[in-house]
Amino acid sequence: MSNNSTMLRSTVTDDGVVRLTLIEEPIPEAGPDEVVVAVEASPINPSDLGMLLAGAKPESLSSHGDALVGQLGGGAVAANAARLGQAMPAGNEGSGIVVAAGASGAAQALMGKRVAALSGAMYATHSRVSTAMCVEMPESVTAEQAASCFVNPLTALGMTETMRMEGHTALVHTAAASNLGQMLQRICLDDGIALVNIVRREEQAELLRSQGAEWVVDWSADSSRDDLTDALAATGATIAFDAIGGGQQVDTILGCMEAAASRGAGFSRYGSDTHKQVYIYGGLDRSPTPLTRTYGMSWGVGGWLLTPFLGRIGLEGIVRLRERVTAEITTTFASHYAETISLEEMLDPEVARRYAVPTTGEKRLVTPGKHA
Ligand SMILES: NC(=O)c1ccc[n+]([C@@H]2O[C@H](COP(=O)([O-])OP(=O)(O)OC[C@H]3O[C@@H](n4cnc5c(N)ncnc54)[C@H](OP(=O)(O)O)[C@@H]3O)[C@@H](O)[C@H]2O)c1
Repeated sequence: MSNNSTMLRSTVTDDGVVRLTLIEEPIPEAGPDEVVVAVEASPINPSDLGMLLAGAKPESLSSHGDALVGQLGGGAVAANAARLGQAMPAGNEGSGIVVAAGASGAAQALMGKRVAALSGAMYATHSRVSTAMCVEMPESVTAEQAASCFVNPLTALGMTETMRMEGHTALVHTAAASNLGQMLQRICLDDGIALVNIVRREEQAELLRSQGAEWVVDWSADSSRDDLTDALAATGATIAFDAIGGGQQVDTILGCMEAAASRGAGFSRYGSDTHKQVYIYGGLDRSPTPLTRTYGMSWGVGGWLLTPFLGRIGLEGIVRLRERVTAEITTTFASHYAETISLEEMLDPEVARRYAVPTTGEKRLVTPGKHA
C-alpha cells in the first residue's frame, strides 16, 4: 500500500479564478481520539459546491494543465476573501474503512470498520476524522448506502424537530423533489406529519405523488397560489423550509399562510395572529428575497443551518437522531446517485459542469478508490 494520499484542493486567487487540483501527501496520522478513513464514497451535495467551485459559473469551467479552473462572477472574490490563496480541502461527508486509529478506546473500537464520517475533507483517498464525527455502519450497509448519513438525513430530521420545538404541527418544503425532499416526505409519512411539497415542474409533482405524497403544489401551474392556500388551510402548516432563497417564493408562502389563517375569520386591520415562519436553509437562487409584508405582523423569516440546530438539541438529541439514521439508512434516508466519479474525473470540465448544477435525480457520488 502506498503511504501517500491523494487529496483534492480548491484555491481561489485574487484575480477571480478558482483552481481545483489533486495533491499527493503522506497519509495523515490519527490523533488520540481520531481515525484515518480510507474513503470509499462521498456525495457532491449543493453545500459542497461553495467550497469546491466558489461560485464559478459552470460554463466557465475549463482545463488548465492538470487543474480544473473556473472564472468567478462579480462579487464572488469579495465573498471568498477569507480563503484567498489557500488550498482548501472539500467534501463534507462520506463513508470508508478505518485504516488507522488513535489511542483512545473509541478510536480503537472503530479499527477496520466501515464508518460514515463528516470531515470536510472527504474528496481524498484518506481523511482524518474525529471519532465524534464517525458512525459505525452495520455490516450489511454498503459504502454507497453509507455515504450520505449526515448532511441531508439530519437536516430533514431537523426540520420536523424544529417544527415541533417551535409549536407548529405541519410543514411546507420547497424544491421538494430533491434528495432531501424525498427523505423528508418519507419521514413525514412514517411520523404522521402533514407535509406540503412545492416543486417547479409537473414531473417532480408526479415523482413525489408516486412516493405517497398527499400535498404537492406545482409552482408552474396557474392555480399554484390557490392550490398552496388550500393545502395550507387543510394541513394547518405554518412553518416552511425554503431551499431556494431568492425570488418571490418566500413572500408568496407567507401571503398564502396568512390567507389560509384568515379564512372564515372576520376582517382585522392587523392581520391574523397566527405566527407564520419561513426558514431559508439553501441558496439555490442567489437573487434577493423581496418581502411585501402583506401578511399581518405575526411572521418571521430567518436562516436555518444544521450545525447550530445540532447545538440547540445537544448531545442526547444528536445521538437519538443519528441512531434513527443508522437504523433506516437503506430505507427512509436512502440517497440516489446518477453517476459515480473518480477524483480525477472531478477535474474534467464536462463532468464538473454536470455536478455543478443541483438537479433532480442528478447527484454525483465521488469514489476515490476508482480511477478515471
Ligand atoms: N441548511 C442546511 O444545513 C442544509 C443541509 C443540507 C442540505 N441543504 C440544502 O438542501 C437543498 C437540497 O439538497 P439536496 O442534496 O437534496 O439537492 P439535490 O438532490 O441535488 O436536488 C436539488 C433540487 O433543487 C432544485 N432546484 C435547483 N435550483 C432550483 C431553483 N433555482 N429553484 C427551484 N428549485 C431548484 C432541483 O430541481 P430541478 O431538477 O428542477 O433543477 C432539485 O430538485 C440544497 O439547497 C442544500 O443546500 C441545506
